[in-house]
Amino acid sequence: MAHSPSHPHTPGDHRHGHAHSEHAHPDHGGGQEEGLAHLLDLDAELFAPYRARVLDRIADRTGGSPGRIVDLGAGTGTGTFALLERFPAARVTAVDTSPDMLDRLTAAARERGLADRLSTLEADAAEGLPGLAGADLVWASAALHHFGDPAASLAAIRAALRPGGLLAVAEMDGVPRFLPDDAVPERPGLEGRLRSALDALHTEQVPHLGDDWGAHLAEAGFAVELAHAEDLELRAPLPEGAGLYAHLALGRIAGALEGSIADEDLAALRTLLDGGRYDVRHRDDLVVRSRRELWVARRPEGGA
Ligand SMILES: C[S@@+](CC[C@H](N)C(=O)[O-])C[C@H]1O[C@@H](n2cnc3c(N)ncnc32)[C@H](O)[C@@H]1O
Repeated sequence: MAHSPSHPHTPGDHRHGHAHSEHAHPDHGGGQEEGLAHLLDLDAELFAPYRARVLDRIADRTGGSPGRIVDLGAGTGTGTFALLERFPAARVTAVDTSPDMLDRLTAAARERGLADRLSTLEADAAEGLPGLAGADLVWASAALHHFGDPAASLAAIRAALRPGGLLAVAEMDGVPRFLPDDAVPERPGLEGRLRSALDALHTEQVPHLGDDWGAHLAEAGFAVELAHAEDLELRAPLPEGAGLYAHLALGRIAGALEGSIADEDLAALRTLLDGGRYDVRHRDDLVVRSRRELWVARRPEGGA
């Protein structure tokens, strides 16, 4: 994995030429940032009610509106925009290793009229957060498991927070599930086998996906105030975008698992994507299932 030097930006001022970590789970990485960006935006749209509940839980603990917020691994800015809207007095610094994501986020901020409350920082959060200190709230959604050594990244986050400041860690248990067992009748149990193959890939590539972040947070000296998990399910009548979300996610899975699953399973997976009768974009038996977890922890008032 190659990382460019960390450096601060204001909107529209990212340095380019950076390669970031790519891995295979369908909500992250996989070589096509366009597809990932679309997937992140659709995820935010489809699960907006859940995110609103998460923001309620955070707002309950901030003791008033936070002034300085950091969105770590901000991606397209799903968290950044939700936080800017929820906390109208706040400024957000969006941090990402990907200049492409930061460019998208900056353009979207301009479109929404929010650019004057946004700064961006192209940085590898695992290597420290240069120039960031005294934050009231750090938000890290579907991000921490990317950062490698949890102790190192949590130490960097702790240093960026003011004493008494909050860290919110949102994670998902990996790949959402979409299909009934007989989705492709010729290959029953297809999704279960895809999931097992992905789990093996993730163990290798993103070993901290699915970790108990409560334990990591406590070890890093945070006081954990909330650990909450929800099983989310979208079923018919599905909201607009659900079929496309499944299509994008399964398409990324197909790319990631090429060569590591049976040819027959790969061919069956492709029939879910090819516009034919099994295509997930127009099935009425699609159910989007995803487990989401949230930890909210505080940097204690005393100590370094
Ligand atoms: C799955 S996306 C999540 C985006 C966003 N937080 C959301 O929930 O929609 C993970 C993001 O983390 C970024 N990322 C990966 N490793 C990183 C690191 N070491 N430091 C900062 N950002 C990183 C990726 O470029 C990507 O934009």
